[in-house]
Amino acid sequence: MPDQTIVVVGASRGIGKELVEKFASDSSNTVFALSRNLQKMQELFGHLQNVRAVEFDLTKNVAQQAKAIFENINQIDILINNAGKLVNKPFTELTHEDIAICYQVNVIGVMETTQAAVPKMIGNGGHIVNISSIGGFQGSVKFAGLSAYSTSKAAVCSFTELFAEEYKDSKIKMNCLCLGAVQTEMLAEAFPGYEAPVSASKMADFITHFALTGNQWMNGKIIPVSLSTP
Ligand SMILES: NC(=O)c1ccc[n+]([C@@H]2O[C@H](COP(=O)([O-])OP(=O)(O)OC[C@H]3O[C@@H](n4cnc5c(N)ncnc54)[C@H](OP(=O)(O)O)[C@@H]3O)[C@@H](O)[C@H]2O)c1
Repeated sequence: MPDQTIVVVGASRGIGKELVEKFASDSSNTVFALSRNLQKMQELFGHLQNVRAVEFDLTKNVAQQAKAIFENINQIDILINNAGKLVNKPFTELTHEDIAICYQVNVIGVMETTQAAVPKMIGNGGHIVNISSIGGFQGSVKFAGLSAYSTSKAAVCSFTELFAEEYKDSKIKMNCLCLGAVQTEMLAEAFPGYEAPVSASKMADFITHFALTGNQWMNGKIIPVSLSTP
């Protein structure tokens, strides 16, 4: 595979951190690791010569930040929209802020990051992988307390189909992975004591392979990736 430039959004912990390390293990790749906690990323990836850690906050001026970061990149081959915000609260206790932050990070942030990446992908093509949740997959088992989070993840699924239709004559492909439970900090904070059947490393193995190859066969697809729920 030729040299690839890969952008991972939400890279400071969990699945995103594993994705950065796995992509970086091929020294021909250049990996841009984006999230709010720059110091943590510098500690994690400082020893990896082909990783550039960049501060990025999906709650603030996403279009402006993404444009400034991508300006320094010639071409993006893979964009993984992996960052996520989960709020677990009974429906009537959700505040406006709870709902707004889920939609800002999980939907608006994904769409505006993608808008900034398109000019860097349109010439040579590439693969955008959106990380959604099995709770946002139509017809799946649903969980009480996740109405803000899971509806926002359902919106990402819908965005994937709409983007793929609009860009079907281009070389950019977009697909969406709806993950089941993965053992990460997010899961541990939202569901203390619950043990997921899949580690962040194992899930990142699958996502890495899918991001590198899946666009040869699929576009606009919403794929459930879950051992734990139907
Ligand atoms: N773990 C699961 O069971 C599970 C299941 C289904 C779907 N997912 C999805 O998989 C993805 C990764 O989940 P995870 O479990 O690895 O989560 P995680 O451990 O909470 O990691 C989330 C990452 O997103 C970044 N992030 C959060 N808010 C951000 C913001 N405002 N701006 C920029 N970056 C932000 C965090 O970095 P900073 O805090 O440094 O910004 C962190 O690096 C998410 O989209 C999640 O919804 C996870």
